[in-house]
Amino acid sequence: MRTAIIYISKHGTTEKLAHTIAAHLTNTEVDLINLKHHQLKSIDKYDQIILGCSIHMGVTHKKTTNFCKKHLNILLTKQLGIFVCCMEKSKIAQDQIAKSLPEKILKHAKFIVLPGYEFLVDKMNFFEKILVKKTIGATDNISKINKAEIDFIVQNMQE
Ligand SMILES: Cc1cc2nc3c(=O)[nH]c(=O)nc-3n(C[C@H](O)[C@H](O)[C@H](O)COP(=O)(O)O)c2cc1C
Repeated sequence: MRTAIIYISKHGTTEKLAHTIAAHLTNTEVDLINLKHHQLKSIDKYDQIILGCSIHMGVTHKKTTNFCKKHLNILLTKQLGIFVCCMEKSKIAQDQIAKSLPEKILKHAKFIVLPGYEFLVDKMNFFEKILVKKTIGATDNISKINKAEIDFIVQNMQE
């Protein structure tokens, strides 16, 4: 059994969670693939895929969307789990995800988990700092990660 955790992360939260999930997946070989640095030609060799992404300004990173579009048909043949780091919940989060990822992929996924979010002020650029201060009043780092959701992902991909 071979698993790819394919992710993209702006300030490092999605990346950290991708590594945590990889460390806990013990009955499968795991490749961690950061779409920021790797252009994946093929995902044929993987039995299952975990796609990790985050929402910034209402959408996921363009490379995540492009990846899903490019590999759509093969993704539909794989066991697929998705996790999305974002501060929004329920309807707003769903709309953001629906705007970013192909409907077929969302329908095919075994699960779409929202494990939480972080605001890592020291990793933000000047404009992001101003925006985050103005919109949610954060001037210090905030971490709201739900460990139970990470456990859920691991359990579901171990089966
Ligand atoms: C400038 C900025 C804009 C953001 N915009 C959104 C947003 O539109 N919707 C949302 O749910 N979360 C938003 N977030 C929260 C991020 O999704 C959260 O910080 C997440 O943990 C980032 O993960 P990453 O560092 O792996 O990209 C925003 C965060 C920042 C810093």
